[in-house]
Amino acid sequence: MLSYQHAYHAGGPADLHKHIALAEMLTLLTRKPRGITYIETHAGRGLYDLASAETAKTGEADEGIAKIDLPDCPFANAVKSVRSMHGETAYPGSPAIAAALMREVDKMHLMELHPAEYKALSVNLEGEAAVHHRDGYEGVMAISPPKPRKGLVLIDPSYEVKAEYLQVAEFTRKLMAKWPEATVMIWYPILKAARHKEMLAALRLPHLVDEASFDLKDNEGMTGSGLALVNAPYGSEAVFSRTREIAARVLR
Ligand SMILES: C[S@@+](CC[C@H](N)C(=O)[O-])C[C@H]1O[C@@H](n2cnc3c(N)ncnc32)[C@H](O)[C@@H]1O
Repeated sequence: MLSYQHAYHAGGPADLHKHIALAEMLTLLTRKPRGITYIETHAGRGLYDLASAETAKTGEADEGIAKIDLPDCPFANAVKSVRSMHGETAYPGSPAIAAALMREVDKMHLMELHPAEYKALSVNLEGEAAVHHRDGYEGVMAISPPKPRKGLVLIDPSYEVKAEYLQVAEFTRKLMAKWPEATVMIWYPILKAARHKEMLAALRLPHLVDEASFDLKDNEGMTGSGLALVNAPYGSEAVFSRTREIAARVLR
């Protein structure tokens, strides 16, 4: 199903949780000189405008990025970088955050299935990543294990269909069998039905979890945001604690 558009949620509390943790994790993984591979199964368009009608409609950015004073940190650097190129209301999607942190030795692959989002992503990340117009689950499996072997996969679907929770768990298990060196970061919404619990149980792999609550006026039943890390590297707990410190005014 491709009706989901991330522009409505850009810069909201869930984005802050995921994006600050992503920036911290990529900083951790790129500490050593050896290159890494960074892959996204569900990339979106890579760049958003917080002054857009979509963002204004939900008001999520007002409950998120607008509420915090960013300290000096990798996420703040990514925000500064897109704002210097695209203006003060620009907000980086996960691909642009990664692009701000990747080095010459690193490789980035982005999967996006929606034709318009793919087109925008190709323009926004031109020259920074290999951008693939294909199903993220199939595409990532096809290119794994990549070179460099050390790396991070972000799985960030919209969960519009219930079956996606178990699909994510099954995909992660298969991916880890094919690419055991990978670290996988899974984002999930926390909703009343709590389907994420079935997903985490179905992973059947050791993982680290960080779940944050927040208030949203029009939340469509979402009360929080979760991140699960499979094959979490040493230092991952600090990634989550720094994320919470930076976004303390928004995430509980
Ligand atoms: C939550 S958004 C991604 C947001 C992005 N990761 C970020 O944080 O900036 C999910 C995206 O996945 C895309 N999508 C949906 N199903 C897909 C699939 N099977 N494969 C690849 N992309 C898909 C949607 O078009 C949407 O752009």
